[in-house]
Amino acid sequence: MDRATSEHSTMEVALRRGDLARRRAGAIAIGIPARGRLDDTAATVDRRTRGVLAALVRRRDFAGKLLETAVLYPSGLGAPRLIAIGLGDPAELDPQRVRLFAAQAARRARELGAGTLAIPARLPGGIDPERTAQCIAEGAVLGHYRFTSYRTRDVVAPLRRIEVLDGDREPGMVAAVERGARWAEATCLARDLANTPGHDLTPEVLARQGRAIAGRAGARITVLDVPRLERIGMGALLAVGRGSVHPPRFLVLEHEPAAASRTTPRAARRGRAPAATGSPGTVVVIGKGVTFDSGGISIKPRENMHRMKYDMSGAAAVLGLFSALPSLSLPFRVVGLIPCAENMPGGRAMKPGDVVRTLDGTTVEIINTDAEGRLVLADAITYARRYRPQLVVDLATLTGAVSVALGRLAAGLFTADDRLGIELSEAAAASGERLWRLPLWDEYAAELRSETADLVNSASGDGAATLGAMFLRHFATGMRWAHLDIASTAWSLVERPHEPRGATGFGVRLMLEWLSRRASGPPHDA
Ligand code: BES
Ligand code: MN
Ligand code: ZN
Repeated sequence: MDRATSEHSTMEVALRRGDLARRRAGAIAIGIPARGRLDDTAATVDRRTRGVLAALVRRRDFAGKLLETAVLYPSGLGAPRLIAIGLGDPAELDPQRVRLFAAQAARRARELGAGTLAIPARLPGGIDPERTAQCIAEGAVLGHYRFTSYRTRDVVAPLRRIEVLDGDREPGMVAAVERGARWAEATCLARDLANTPGHDLTPEVLARQGRAIAGRAGARITVLDVPRLERIGMGALLAVGRGSVHPPRFLVLEHEPAAASRTTPRAARRGRAPAATGSPGTVVVIGKGVTFDSGGISIKPRENMHRMKYDMSGAAAVLGLFSALPSLSLPFRVVGLIPCAENMPGGRAMKPGDVVRTLDGTTVEIINTDAEGRLVLADAITYARRYRPQLVVDLATLTGAVSVALGRLAAGLFTADDRLGIELSEAAAASGERLWRLPLWDEYAAELRSETADLVNSASGDGAATLGAMFLRHFATGMRWAHLDIASTAWSLVERPHEPRGATGFGVRLMLEWLSRRASGPPHDA
């Protein structure tokens, strides 16, 4: 996939000052509540169209149910098309519904070939205006997304521009729209990566994409190749990659804190390292980057194997996150670690019964070569120790079992740290990317003991999502760490307003929300 040809990077989104009813655009979108009066924006549109919205509601053709949609062609507006979208009960309007409203508007406008869309920055109800404006921009970009890199025909042209209209151009509102657009574009970048077929996104290509993304975001990047991995002893990542002709890579991205908060002024003037108390600290985010998971020698059944190109969705989320970090100006360092490998059978592939040695010296007996995610993550979690991080979070499409437990509406959250668990849960609720906590009790550990080595990589029986997390916990001892099993949410099997079928980019906005909350919370909270 060539990022330069990717379409969301060519669509503009910005807050504009103006009146929706007069705006020249291919289409305007308007929200209609299920009960109660039209808001000022809708009332103006209604007046200028001689009551087209009032007529729609009066005839009961349109009840204003959430996401109910009508396209009208009245005269009297600056735009030829009016997309009316139900908001449901205004008392129940929340940030996620705002995103869905905007997503539906952008999706319809694109299907209609509208070219440009104007959408209101505010909606009726009690949500904070800046939050609403951010969610409008976010939802619109998410709903507009299509993965078209491999289509040679029947591509519905993308919109050229989405204008978010407000009566004013208050700086806070301009920034909110900007933030929403950037965060959603970062999500779309992650979607593109995870939708890209395995033959076009090998570990080497993922590394190249990482370099390009880090370069644009002003982050430092180091790519460790096989000789380097051998020298430092990443035996688990190397073992997973051994069956493939595409050798593994390990990506290290570093984003420094915003200049003002990097050091205390005095320490900076003396050219010294910051004192421990003034230290900005480091948050490490790890993403599983298995570019294709065939299962290896323990090969997967044929039915859904094609989908295993999305087994690098954790890596995609970390790269998406880094692409948007410049919009955050964080007072702490963020490090991204991405172990990349292709899990294939082959003459040199790891075999059941083999014993591999991880970066921290733990020996692991391979029971199932398909439990490869935890192997590559074990080495990454150990590598994170170099940074003495305050917090470590990994995102990984680790187990099919997490979908058995949660369906597809939430990712699994595993942590022994209640405070971190709460922080992440709150960020999840705010971002609309849901997490649900699952247990990590000590008693599960017994199932991971090996007869031959320190651990097995897979135990038979139930509770596979927790057992995967327990395996990782072994390597995270002593660190504040959380594991997000995103196998349930990183791929959508159904069409939703804000996400078409395919890769969802799950985790990008969740991580951005979490990090920005940490930045404005208590300083350098240990
Ligand atoms: N990448 C898979 C997990 C997965 C499955 C992601 C389905 C998305 C959809 C992972 O590497 C894997 O194969 N996990 C095994 C673990 C088992 C061998 C303990 C699984 O879930 O079956
Ligand atoms: Mn696997
Ligand atoms: Zn996998």
